[in-house]
Amino acid sequence: METIDKKWKEQGYIDQPVDKNIDLKTEIRRMCKEKNAVLMAHYYTVGDVQDVADFVGDSLALAQKAAQTDADIIVMCGVHFMGETNKILCPEKTILIPDTNASCSLAESCPADKFAEFVKAHPGHTVISYVNTSAATKAVTDVVVTSSNAKLIVGSFPQDTPMIFGPDKNLGGYINKITGRNMILWDGACHVHSRFSVSGILKLKAEHPNAKVLAHPECKDEVLSIADKVGSTAALLKFCLDDEAHEFIVATESGILYEMEKGAPQKTFIPAPEEGKCGCNECEYMKLITLEKVYNCLKYEFPTIEVDEEIAKKAVRPINRMLEISKQMGL
Ligand code: 13P
Ligand code: SF4
Repeated sequence: METIDKKWKEQGYIDQPVDKNIDLKTEIRRMCKEKNAVLMAHYYTVGDVQDVADFVGDSLALAQKAAQTDADIIVMCGVHFMGETNKILCPEKTILIPDTNASCSLAESCPADKFAEFVKAHPGHTVISYVNTSAATKAVTDVVVTSSNAKLIVGSFPQDTPMIFGPDKNLGGYINKITGRNMILWDGACHVHSRFSVSGILKLKAEHPNAKVLAHPECKDEVLSIADKVGSTAALLKFCLDDEAHEFIVATESGILYEMEKGAPQKTFIPAPEEGKCGCNECEYMKLITLEKVYNCLKYEFPTIEVDEEIAKKAVRPINRMLEISKQMGL
């Protein structure tokens, strides 16, 4: 095993320069085979990382794959909470993340101690948490949901069940609306999805009248109400591949455009603009995961994701509950 530099520990990633003559993708695949490692990537990572991954998916699919894999090492090319979910589900495996600074503004908008106070202030309420939360927040949760299964899981409870939902007020508000529930919402949001501009989307719509608007449920209600399709990254991808339209305005993180363009090269995908800008909207945390960092992380088997055992014991229950309900519902 290579030695881990003190500087790398402090900065949370390895910045060892990579030999220019190495074909990174071939080397990464070779190391995966040699070390019995599986590389999983979220749709928001850069195209090169998606290309080299064994599996690319949304948060639900990534958790489902982690629960099933027999690999010894999982390299999570995504953000920190995704790696934590893997560690909670597979405590005996080594979980690597190429850069531990790959955080999530939504998860950060819900500190576990404050969320525990919120839970305490609402006795008798079922606690639903979005997967974009820390392990410690999941530990005070009854059921975890993702954007793929939130509607079905919330809808599986009797209509009059008192519930609280955290941390995304946009997703929670949307689920309340479509299920007729009245969940009490934590006041959190994703900085990427909450900044899409309604006027910018309407302007694009005027220029491309046949384009359909696709939006992730983390977007604000004003954006969701003008969307033709609201769904998780996987649902939006499926919709644009199956639908007869040829143009789509995409209101989610722009990494998804890579898979969309790959799946339907004859169609046009236009990233929705953010407030005050005309370019696309990127999650800077997802973009921290580069091919060089994936290579170094596999080579040195560092950085790893660790979760406190007591927290993991509590957090595994609501995650497994989500996976069981999803399975029962055919997701
Ligand atoms: P998905 O569950 O749709 O993959 O979304 C994850 C996420 O981080 C959205 O910002
Ligand atoms: Fe978190 Fe938003 Fe980035 Fe998704 S896009 S990982 S919710 S900060």
